[in-house]
Amino acid sequence: MSIENEQDIIALMRIGRIVGLTLQHMGAAIQPGMTTAELDEIGAAFLAQHGARSAPILAYKFPGHTCISINDEAAHGIPGNRVIQPGDLVNIDVSAELDGYFADTGGSFAVPPVTSEKQRLLETTRKALNAAINAVRAGQPLYVIGKAVEKIARPAGYSILRELGGHGVGRSLHEPPHAVPHYFNPRAHERLTEGMVLTIEPFLTTGATHIKKASDGWTLRTSDGSLAAQYEHTVIITKDRPILVTAV
Ligand code: CO
Ligand code: CO
Repeated sequence: MSIENEQDIIALMRIGRIVGLTLQHMGAAIQPGMTTAELDEIGAAFLAQHGARSAPILAYKFPGHTCISINDEAAHGIPGNRVIQPGDLVNIDVSAELDGYFADTGGSFAVPPVTSEKQRLLETTRKALNAAINAVRAGQPLYVIGKAVEKIARPAGYSILRELGGHGVGRSLHEPPHAVPHYFNPRAHERLTEGMVLTIEPFLTTGATHIKKASDGWTLRTSDGSLAAQYEHTVIITKDRPILVTAV
């Protein structure tokens, strides 16, 4: 969507804050020994408390309130009886709707003990998201996002998952522009416009540039079993720095 009035901003920021807090709350609740279904229940309860509805359920009938993806699972992991282990990288993706507005956020968490390599992957992915956030401005082409992410990921020795892009969001979970690349792709030359609402959500890996879908029909794993990390914010494009909708 594109922001048209004050009401749009207020409503979007309201659901943005809720998904941001849900992510923070779930991240703080991660314990080795708990199942991903238990972690999802914590998120589901938090969303319900705030009157928000899970977007993956609304939009896709996803079998979980949030997506929880571990280690080589990059995205769309189904919460279930998988037990979280010490040393796991746990990615939680939270998107939800309130009063007809949608926001989308995500983040990766390391369960102690954390190796320095995992720590570095998380820090670099966070840095890549921040670099992309700092690069977007009304009038710039969409490819500034991928360019900024690549500039951080490449020298650090990490790959970027090519099939998992950012997307428009706001009145539904996935809107145009679709599949905004997190790698430099000069063909993504559509211009960012003032008020445009989209996600920036780079997926960095220790090897793979591609994903494969698991037999459950949802979970997206790295093609070679390498580790993946992701951080995601919903942003509103302005002439200056974007407004972070999902920051808390
Ligand atoms: Co997301
Ligand atoms: Co997203």
